[in-house]
Amino acid sequence: MRALAVDHTSPGHLSLTDVPDPRPAAHEALVRVEAVSLNFGEVHGATRPEVPDGTVLGWDAAGVVVQAAADGSGPAEGARVVTLGETGWAELRAVPAALLGTAPEDADPGALSTVPVAGLSALHVLRRMGSLLGRRVLVTGASGGVGRYAVQLAARAGAHVVAISRSSAQADGLRSLGAREVHPEPAAVREPVAAVLDNVGGRHLVDAFAALSAGGTLFSVGRSSEADAVLPPDALLGNEGRHDRSIRTFFLFGDPAAGFSADLTWLAGEIAAGRLDPGISWRGSWARHAEAVQTLLDRRLHGKAVLDLQ
Ligand SMILES: NC(=O)c1ccc[n+]([C@@H]2O[C@H](COP(=O)([O-])OP(=O)(O)OC[C@H]3O[C@@H](n4cnc5c(N)ncnc54)[C@H](OP(=O)(O)O)[C@@H]3O)[C@@H](O)[C@H]2O)c1
Repeated sequence: MRALAVDHTSPGHLSLTDVPDPRPAAHEALVRVEAVSLNFGEVHGATRPEVPDGTVLGWDAAGVVVQAAADGSGPAEGARVVTLGETGWAELRAVPAALLGTAPEDADPGALSTVPVAGLSALHVLRRMGSLLGRRVLVTGASGGVGRYAVQLAARAGAHVVAISRSSAQADGLRSLGAREVHPEPAAVREPVAAVLDNVGGRHLVDAFAALSAGGTLFSVGRSSEADAVLPPDALLGNEGRHDRSIRTFFLFGDPAAGFSADLTWLAGEIAAGRLDPGISWRGSWARHAEAVQTLLDRRLHGKAVLDLQ
Protein backbone atom coordinates (compact mmCIF):
# COMPACT_ATOMS: atom_id res chain seq x y z
CA MET A 1 0.00 0.00 0.00
CA ARG A 2 0.99 3.65 -0.31
CA ALA A 3 1.80 5.53 2.88
CA LEU A 4 3.14 8.87 3.98
CA ALA A 5 6.25 7.72 5.81
CA VAL A 6 9.09 9.46 7.61
CA ASP A 7 11.89 10.36 5.17
CA HIS A 8 14.46 12.72 6.65
CA THR A 9 15.76 13.64 3.17
CA SER A 10 12.37 15.07 2.06
CA PRO A 11 10.70 18.42 2.79
CA GLY A 12 8.66 18.08 5.98
CA HIS A 13 10.56 14.82 6.68
CA LEU A 14 7.83 12.79 4.94
CA SER A 15 7.41 11.15 1.54
CA LEU A 16 4.83 8.97 -0.21
CA THR A 17 6.19 5.46 -0.45
CA ASP A 18 5.20 1.77 -0.58
CA VAL A 19 5.02 -0.12 2.73
CA PRO A 20 3.65 -3.57 3.63
CA ASP A 21 -0.13 -3.82 4.17
CA PRO A 22 -1.16 -4.08 7.85
CA ARG A 23 -2.25 -7.52 9.04
CA PRO A 24 -5.23 -6.99 11.36
CA ALA A 25 -5.43 -8.95 14.62
CA ALA A 26 -8.69 -10.74 15.39
CA HIS A 27 -10.06 -7.72 17.29
CA GLU A 28 -9.14 -5.23 14.56
CA ALA A 29 -11.09 -4.00 11.54
CA LEU A 30 -9.23 -3.16 8.35
CA VAL A 31 -10.09 0.35 7.17
CA ARG A 32 -9.45 1.89 3.76
CA VAL A 33 -8.41 5.42 4.69
CA GLU A 34 -9.93 8.26 2.66
CA ALA A 35 -8.73 11.32 4.59
CA VAL A 36 -6.43 12.17 7.46
CA SER A 37 -5.98 15.30 9.52
CA LEU A 38 -2.63 16.48 10.82
CA ASN A 39 -1.69 17.41 14.37
CA PHE A 40 1.32 19.48 15.37
CA GLY A 41 2.57 16.73 17.70
CA GLU A 42 2.91 14.03 15.05
CA VAL A 43 4.13 16.41 12.31
CA HIS A 44 6.79 17.69 14.67
CA GLY A 45 7.49 14.08 15.70
CA ALA A 46 8.39 13.21 12.11
CA THR A 47 11.19 15.79 12.16
CA ARG A 48 12.95 14.13 15.12
CA PRO A 49 16.16 12.36 14.01
CA GLU A 50 15.53 9.38 16.31
CA VAL A 51 12.35 8.46 14.36
CA PRO A 52 13.65 6.08 11.65
CA ASP A 53 12.96 6.53 7.94
CA GLY A 54 9.98 4.47 6.83
CA THR A 55 8.01 4.97 10.09
CA VAL A 56 4.30 5.58 9.42
CA LEU A 57 2.75 8.07 11.85
CA GLY A 58 -0.73 9.58 12.00
CA TRP A 59 -3.36 9.65 14.74
CA ASP A 60 -6.48 10.83 12.86
CA ALA A 61 -8.00 8.99 9.90
CA ALA A 62 -11.45 8.45 8.39
CA GLY A 63 -12.51 5.91 5.83
CA VAL A 64 -14.51 2.74 5.18
CA VAL A 65 -14.26 -0.73 6.74
CA VAL A 66 -13.07 -3.16 4.07
CA GLN A 67 -12.76 -6.14 6.44
CA ALA A 68 -14.68 -6.43 9.72
CA ALA A 69 -12.85 -7.63 12.86
CA ALA A 70 -12.69 -11.44 12.85
CA ASP A 71 -13.94 -11.65 16.47
CA GLY A 72 -17.19 -9.87 15.53
CA SER A 73 -16.40 -6.66 17.45
CA GLY A 74 -16.88 -3.33 15.72
CA PRO A 75 -18.75 -2.37 12.57
CA ALA A 76 -19.46 -4.46 9.48
CA GLU A 77 -17.71 -4.19 6.12
CA GLY A 78 -18.80 -1.08 4.26
CA ALA A 79 -19.32 1.10 7.37
CA ARG A 80 -17.97 4.64 7.24
CA VAL A 81 -15.73 5.17 10.25
CA VAL A 82 -13.50 7.63 12.04
CA THR A 83 -10.44 6.23 13.78
CA LEU A 84 -7.72 7.04 16.29
CA GLY A 85 -4.39 5.22 16.33
CA GLU A 86 -0.70 5.50 15.64
CA THR A 87 -0.28 4.67 11.93
CA GLY A 88 -3.03 6.48 10.05
CA TRP A 89 -1.14 8.11 7.17
CA ALA A 90 -1.58 5.11 4.90
CA GLU A 91 -4.14 3.62 2.54
CA LEU A 92 -5.02 0.86 5.02
CA ARG A 93 -5.26 0.95 8.79
CA ALA A 94 -5.96 -1.91 11.24
CA VAL A 95 -8.02 -0.55 14.16
CA PRO A 96 -9.54 -2.12 17.29
CA ALA A 97 -13.23 -1.38 17.89
CA ALA A 98 -12.39 0.76 20.94
CA LEU A 99 -10.56 3.29 18.74
CA LEU A 100 -13.16 3.49 16.02
CA GLY A 101 -16.45 5.37 15.72
CA THR A 102 -19.09 4.92 13.06
CA ALA A 103 -20.44 7.77 10.94
CA PRO A 104 -23.37 8.32 8.60
CA GLU A 105 -22.68 6.93 5.13
CA ASP A 106 -22.80 10.33 3.42
CA ALA A 107 -20.49 12.09 5.90
CA ASP A 108 -17.47 13.88 4.43
CA PRO A 109 -14.36 11.85 5.37
CA GLY A 110 -12.24 15.01 5.46
CA ALA A 111 -14.51 16.59 8.06
CA LEU A 112 -14.62 13.33 10.05
CA SER A 113 -10.84 13.07 10.06
CA THR A 114 -10.59 16.26 12.16
CA VAL A 115 -12.44 14.61 15.05
CA PRO A 116 -10.19 12.10 16.85
CA VAL A 117 -7.41 14.02 18.59
CA ALA A 118 -8.90 17.53 18.54
CA GLY A 119 -12.55 16.62 19.17
CA LEU A 120 -11.89 13.92 21.78
CA SER A 121 -9.40 16.11 23.67
CA ALA A 122 -11.84 19.02 23.85
CA LEU A 123 -14.72 16.75 24.87
CA HIS A 124 -12.80 14.86 27.54
CA VAL A 125 -11.34 17.99 29.12
CA LEU A 126 -14.70 19.78 29.19
CA ARG A 127 -16.29 16.73 30.82
CA ARG A 128 -13.69 16.92 33.58
CA MET A 129 -14.90 20.48 34.30
CA GLY A 130 -18.33 19.17 35.33
CA SER A 131 -21.49 21.12 34.60
CA LEU A 132 -20.72 24.19 32.50
CA LEU A 133 -24.21 25.70 32.66
CA GLY A 134 -23.91 29.41 33.27
CA ARG A 135 -20.19 29.18 34.08
CA ARG A 136 -17.40 31.20 32.48
CA VAL A 137 -14.93 28.94 30.67
CA LEU A 138 -11.70 30.26 29.18
CA VAL A 139 -10.16 28.58 26.10
CA THR A 140 -6.66 29.59 24.99
CA GLY A 141 -5.43 28.83 21.47
CA ALA A 142 -9.13 28.97 20.61
CA SER A 143 -8.55 29.24 16.86
CA GLY A 144 -6.71 25.89 16.75
CA GLY A 145 -7.98 22.36 16.26
CA VAL A 146 -8.67 21.60 19.94
CA GLY A 147 -9.71 25.20 20.64
CA ARG A 148 -12.43 25.32 17.98
CA TYR A 149 -14.00 22.11 19.23
CA ALA A 150 -13.70 23.32 22.83
CA VAL A 151 -15.43 26.63 22.06
CA GLN A 152 -18.32 24.91 20.29
CA LEU A 153 -18.81 22.11 22.82
CA ALA A 154 -18.54 24.40 25.86
CA ALA A 155 -21.06 26.82 24.34
CA ARG A 156 -23.42 23.93 23.61
CA ALA A 157 -23.07 22.84 27.25
CA GLY A 158 -24.26 26.26 28.41
CA ALA A 159 -20.96 27.94 29.23
CA HIS A 160 -20.16 31.60 28.76
CA VAL A 161 -17.13 30.94 26.57
CA VAL A 162 -14.18 33.32 26.75
CA ALA A 163 -11.92 32.64 23.77
CA ILE A 164 -8.30 33.73 23.38
CA SER A 165 -6.73 34.27 19.97
CA ARG A 166 -3.78 36.48 19.17
CA SER A 167 -5.26 37.10 15.74
CA SER A 168 -8.06 39.68 15.56
CA ALA A 169 -9.07 38.14 12.21
CA GLN A 170 -10.26 35.06 14.14
CA ALA A 171 -12.68 36.94 16.43
CA ASP A 172 -15.81 36.89 14.26
CA GLY A 173 -15.35 33.21 13.43
CA LEU A 174 -14.93 32.32 17.09
CA ARG A 175 -18.05 34.30 18.02
CA SER A 176 -19.99 32.42 15.36
CA LEU A 177 -18.82 29.15 16.96
CA GLY A 178 -20.29 30.29 20.29
CA ALA A 179 -17.66 32.42 22.03
CA ARG A 180 -19.24 35.26 24.01
CA GLU A 181 -15.95 37.12 24.46
CA VAL A 182 -12.76 37.05 22.38
CA HIS A 183 -9.52 38.52 23.73
CA PRO A 184 -5.97 38.62 22.34
CA GLU A 185 -4.47 37.27 25.58
CA PRO A 186 -5.69 35.96 28.95
CA ALA A 187 -4.36 39.09 30.73
CA ALA A 188 -7.12 41.06 28.96
CA VAL A 189 -9.91 39.03 30.63
CA ARG A 190 -11.59 41.19 33.26
CA GLU A 191 -14.10 38.85 35.01
CA PRO A 192 -12.92 35.65 36.73
CA VAL A 193 -13.51 32.30 35.05
CA ALA A 194 -14.52 28.98 36.60
CA ALA A 195 -12.31 26.80 34.39
CA VAL A 196 -9.61 27.02 31.75
CA LEU A 197 -8.66 24.77 28.83
CA ASP A 198 -5.13 25.89 27.98
CA ASN A 199 -3.60 24.92 24.63
CA VAL A 200 -0.77 27.45 24.68
CA GLY A 201 1.24 27.30 27.94
CA GLY A 202 3.88 29.91 28.83
CA ARG A 203 2.54 33.36 29.70
CA HIS A 204 -0.97 32.26 28.61
CA LEU A 205 -1.02 29.57 31.30
CA VAL A 206 0.23 31.95 33.99
CA ASP A 207 -2.32 34.68 33.17
CA ALA A 208 -5.17 32.22 32.64
CA PHE A 209 -4.44 30.70 36.06
CA ALA A 210 -4.63 34.21 37.55
CA ALA A 211 -8.09 34.61 35.97
CA LEU A 212 -9.50 31.58 37.83
CA SER A 213 -12.04 32.12 40.59
CA ALA A 214 -11.81 30.19 43.87
CA GLY A 215 -12.03 26.43 43.35
CA GLY A 216 -11.37 26.78 39.63
CA THR A 217 -9.17 24.44 37.61
CA LEU A 218 -6.87 25.06 34.68
CA PHE A 219 -6.47 22.02 32.40
CA SER A 220 -3.11 22.11 30.67
CA VAL A 221 -3.66 20.45 27.29
CA GLY A 222 -0.91 21.90 25.10
CA ARG A 223 2.15 24.08 24.97
CA SER A 224 1.83 25.65 21.51
CA SER A 225 3.89 28.67 22.60
CA GLU A 226 6.77 26.31 23.50
CA ALA A 227 7.53 28.83 26.26
CA ASP A 228 8.20 28.15 29.93
CA ALA A 229 5.30 28.86 32.27
CA VAL A 230 6.94 30.78 35.11
CA LEU A 231 4.63 31.32 38.09
CA PRO A 232 5.76 34.29 40.21
CA PRO A 233 5.34 33.74 43.99
CA ASP A 234 2.14 35.81 44.14
CA ALA A 235 0.53 33.63 41.49
CA LEU A 236 0.05 30.91 44.09
CA LEU A 237 -1.57 33.07 46.79
CA GLY A 238 -4.92 31.74 47.95
CA ASN A 239 -6.27 34.88 49.60
CA GLU A 240 -8.89 37.31 48.30
CA GLY A 241 -11.12 34.70 46.72
CA ARG A 242 -8.30 32.86 44.97
CA HIS A 243 -8.15 29.81 47.25
CA ASP A 244 -8.37 26.21 46.15
CA ARG A 245 -7.36 26.74 42.51
CA SER A 246 -5.55 23.95 40.71
CA ILE A 247 -3.66 23.03 37.55
CA ARG A 248 -4.31 19.60 36.04
CA THR A 249 -2.43 17.85 33.29
CA PHE A 250 -4.22 16.02 30.48
CA PHE A 251 -3.11 13.29 28.09
CA LEU A 252 -5.68 11.97 25.62
CA PHE A 253 -3.91 8.66 25.11
CA GLY A 254 -3.89 8.20 28.88
CA ASP A 255 -7.69 8.15 28.95
CA PRO A 256 -9.28 4.70 28.95
CA ALA A 257 -9.63 3.68 25.31
CA ALA A 258 -12.94 2.00 26.15
CA GLY A 259 -14.56 5.46 26.13
CA PHE A 260 -13.43 6.50 22.68
CA SER A 261 -15.75 4.52 20.43
CA ALA A 262 -19.00 6.04 21.66
CA ASP A 263 -17.51 9.53 21.75
CA LEU A 264 -16.06 9.23 18.23
CA THR A 265 -19.46 8.07 16.97
CA TRP A 266 -21.24 10.96 18.68
CA LEU A 267 -18.78 13.60 17.43
CA ALA A 268 -18.92 12.14 13.90
CA GLY A 269 -22.72 12.34 13.96
CA GLU A 270 -22.63 15.96 15.07
CA ILE A 271 -20.18 16.79 12.26
CA ALA A 272 -22.29 14.96 9.68
CA ALA A 273 -25.45 16.77 10.84
CA GLY A 274 -23.72 20.16 10.59
CA ARG A 275 -24.04 20.81 14.34
CA LEU A 276 -20.25 20.92 14.78
CA ASP A 277 -17.89 22.80 12.50
CA PRO A 278 -14.75 20.75 11.73
CA GLY A 279 -12.74 23.97 11.33
CA ILE A 280 -10.83 22.89 8.22
CA SER A 281 -8.46 25.67 7.22
CA TRP A 282 -6.21 23.75 4.81
CA ARG A 283 -7.26 20.84 2.58
CA GLY A 284 -5.63 19.11 -0.38
CA SER A 285 -4.41 15.82 -1.81
CA TRP A 286 -1.82 13.94 0.23
CA ALA A 287 0.53 14.52 -2.69
CA ARG A 288 0.67 18.10 -1.32
CA HIS A 289 1.73 16.93 2.15
CA ALA A 290 4.89 19.07 2.24
CA GLU A 291 2.84 22.25 1.85
CA ALA A 292 0.41 21.23 4.59
CA VAL A 293 3.19 20.21 6.96
CA GLN A 294 5.07 23.47 6.47
CA THR A 295 1.89 25.42 7.25
CA LEU A 296 1.62 23.54 10.52
CA LEU A 297 5.28 23.82 11.46
CA ASP A 298 5.23 27.56 10.73
CA ARG A 299 2.12 27.81 12.93
CA ARG A 300 0.23 29.56 10.13
CA LEU A 301 -2.82 27.33 10.54
CA HIS A 302 -6.02 28.39 12.30
CA GLY A 303 -7.90 25.11 12.48
CA LYS A 304 -7.29 21.69 10.96
CA ALA A 305 -5.21 20.62 7.95
CA VAL A 306 -6.79 17.72 6.03
CA LEU A 307 -5.16 15.48 3.44
CA ASP A 308 -7.37 13.53 1.03
CA LEU A 309 -5.83 10.22 -0.06
CA GLN A 310 -6.22 10.77 -3.79
N1 LIG B 1 -2.39 16.62 26.04
C1 LIG B 1 -2.96 16.02 25.00
O1 LIG B 1 -3.37 14.85 25.03
C2 LIG B 1 -3.15 16.82 23.76
C3 LIG B 1 -4.15 16.51 22.84
C4 LIG B 1 -4.32 17.33 21.73
C5 LIG B 1 -3.48 18.42 21.52
N2 LIG B 1 -2.49 18.67 22.41
C6 LIG B 1 -1.63 19.86 22.27
O2 LIG B 1 -2.51 20.97 22.47
C7 LIG B 1 -2.09 22.08 21.70
C8 LIG B 1 -3.23 22.53 20.82
O3 LIG B 1 -3.46 21.55 19.83
P1 LIG B 1 -4.13 21.99 18.47
O4 LIG B 1 -4.22 20.78 17.63
O5 LIG B 1 -5.35 22.78 18.75
O6 LIG B 1 -2.99 22.97 17.89
P2 LIG B 1 -3.14 24.10 16.80
O7 LIG B 1 -4.23 23.75 15.85
O8 LIG B 1 -1.77 24.33 16.30
O9 LIG B 1 -3.67 25.37 17.61
C9 LIG B 1 -2.91 26.02 18.58
C10 LIG B 1 -3.39 27.45 18.71
O10 LIG B 1 -2.58 28.07 19.71
C11 LIG B 1 -2.31 29.41 19.36
N3 LIG B 1 -0.85 29.62 19.41
C12 LIG B 1 0.08 29.02 18.65
N4 LIG B 1 1.31 29.48 18.99
C13 LIG B 1 1.12 30.39 19.96
C14 LIG B 1 1.99 31.22 20.69
N5 LIG B 1 3.32 31.23 20.48
N6 LIG B 1 1.45 32.02 21.62
C15 LIG B 1 0.14 32.05 21.81
N7 LIG B 1 -0.75 31.29 21.12
C16 LIG B 1 -0.25 30.46 20.21
C17 LIG B 1 -2.80 29.63 17.95
O11 LIG B 1 -3.94 30.46 18.03
P3 LIG B 1 -3.88 32.04 17.71
O12 LIG B 1 -2.80 32.26 16.69
O13 LIG B 1 -5.25 32.32 17.20
O14 LIG B 1 -3.59 32.68 19.00
C18 LIG B 1 -3.22 28.26 17.46
O15 LIG B 1 -4.40 28.29 16.69
C19 LIG B 1 -0.86 21.61 20.94
O16 LIG B 1 0.28 22.00 21.70
C20 LIG B 1 -0.99 20.10 20.91
O17 LIG B 1 0.25 19.45 20.77
C21 LIG B 1 -2.30 17.92 23.53
